Amino acid sequence: MKVLFMGDVVGRPGLQAVRALLPRLVSEHSVDLCVANAENSEGGAGISAESATFLLDSGVKLLTSGNHFYSKKAILPWVTAHPDLLLRPANYPKGTPGKGHGLVKLPDGRALGVINLEGRVFMRMEASPFEVVLPLVEELRKQTPCILVDMHCEASSEKNAMGVHLDGRVSAVVGTHTHVQTADERLLPGGTAFITDVGMCGPLDSVIGMKKETSLARFLGEKAPYEVAEKLVYLQGVVIDIDDTTGRARSIERVRHRLPGT
Ligand code: FE2
Repeated sequence: MKVLFMGDVVGRPGLQAVRALLPRLVSEHSVDLCVANAENSEGGAGISAESATFLLDSGVKLLTSGNHFYSKKAILPWVTAHPDLLLRPANYPKGTPGKGHGLVKLPDGRALGVINLEGRVFMRMEASPFEVVLPLVEELRKQTPCILVDMHCEASSEKNAMGVHLDGRVSAVVGTHTHVQTADERLLPGGTAFITDVGMCGPLDSVIGMKKETSLARFLGEKAPYEVAEKLVYLQGVVIDIDDTTGRARSIERVRHRLPGT
């Protein structure tokens, strides 16, 4: 099974990059299934029913999220109605709408389990993703050996530790949240594909997707509202090839394509 996982989709530029570039990527890499982190898809922070639907209509089968899961509160009734289309971190407090793991079935019967986690270093999460993830892996393994984990967190150390924690237990651990694609993709000894951060689908002429002038102004102590940037828009992610029988990853390859005209 070949899975394309796309990094944080940032606002309208990110949505447009996915819509325009996905078909060619799917064709060139013989991709069976696309997953994307959508937590910044509405205006750069949060998700709306419209941005989620736009990505699903573009060919993405399942959306993941992170600390901006419900920055736009209107997503909560939508995710309650569509818990199998958008995941939130599994280590959110009990009672949070939505769920942290899901299963995507292909027409031929194969299936990919997906788990969404949020880190705790420089973030506000209370429950440990390292503890929460293990029962979910066990639950999904009853249905498929192919499991992908989106580890949404700030610290590269925490993401790498999760890779070690889950090596041999899942097919892939992919990092999201920093919006900066790292060049450390590799297969871990137990057969798990890993990358510290897959990057973003959004404008690179920016500070992690936001207009550079206003982002810098905030670091200089001024009050300036965040705005999504517009230039050098890229689709960034990874293509992971998974052995359908064992669940071991065969390869992980970074992808990075510019949206023409940006
Ligand atoms: Fe995030």
